[in-house]
Amino acid sequence: MTVFLVGAGPGDPGLITVRGLELVRACDVLVYDRLVSPELVDEIPPHARAVSRHDLDQHEVNELLVSYGRRAHLAVVRLKGGDPFVFGRGGEEALALADAGIPFEVVPGISALSAVPAAAGIPVTHRGVASQVTLVSGRNCDGSVGFDPAVLAAAPGTLVLFMSLGSLPDIVAALLDHGKDPWTPAAAIAHGTRAEQRTVRAALAELPAAAAELDAPTLIVIGDVVASGWPEQLAGVPAVHAAETEA
Ligand SMILES: C[S@@+](CC[C@H](N)C(=O)[O-])C[C@H]1O[C@@H](n2cnc3c(N)ncnc32)[C@H](O)[C@@H]1O
Repeated sequence: MTVFLVGAGPGDPGLITVRGLELVRACDVLVYDRLVSPELVDEIPPHARAVSRHDLDQHEVNELLVSYGRRAHLAVVRLKGGDPFVFGRGGEEALALADAGIPFEVVPGISALSAVPAAAGIPVTHRGVASQVTLVSGRNCDGSVGFDPAVLAAAPGTLVLFMSLGSLPDIVAALLDHGKDPWTPAAAIAHGTRAEQRTVRAALAELPAAAAELDAPTLIVIGDVVASGWPEQLAGVPAVHAAETEA
């Protein structure tokens, strides 16, 4: 049977796709990530098994998916935070399944890349302000820095940094060393789209100090769009809850 690689969305359980939720509700086995909201794990049928991948390395996750995928009677859902193919290792899991001859289907999810800034009132491609978005991983899988600071400092438009909170002082120092304007507007958004969302905004040079109290998951946004967001009263409020309040 097909293994489904499903995006869970950015955090708020209401932001999974209709197709994704249907598959979760019909699965026999759910293999899920730490970033997936517990409310979505609770949606599996009573007979189904939920397996956290928390203590498994990527090779073990691939083997687990292949092993479940070989049992043709099981409906297997691999539920991943955001979109499976945006810094989500979904490609590696798809390749492992393909190598084993197991059919799979990718069900895209709403990535943190634009949803988390949106929930903080930041339109990453505000017209006339940014027509380019650069996505960056703060670190590679071997722990090395995931970008060239000279290229990043010169990139126009909006920078969106994933997995960068721990190394934010180093990243900002490298950008400033390579000529990035210290006054560039910047934000750090923790637990975006969830009730516990927290947003701090500061000039780039001040962002590491301003964000020191935040915890993971946190997304960093750098660029003039941070200063041209929606009305103040929406900033910092998850979009879904803001809409409910207005209704
Ligand atoms: C391994 S990546 C997964 C990205 C995911 N596949 C996606 O498309 O959003 C994890 C990083 O995404 C960012 N992230 C994911 N969800 C987030 C959220 N709700 N709030 C803030 N940052 C988030 C953080 O930078 C976190 O360290």
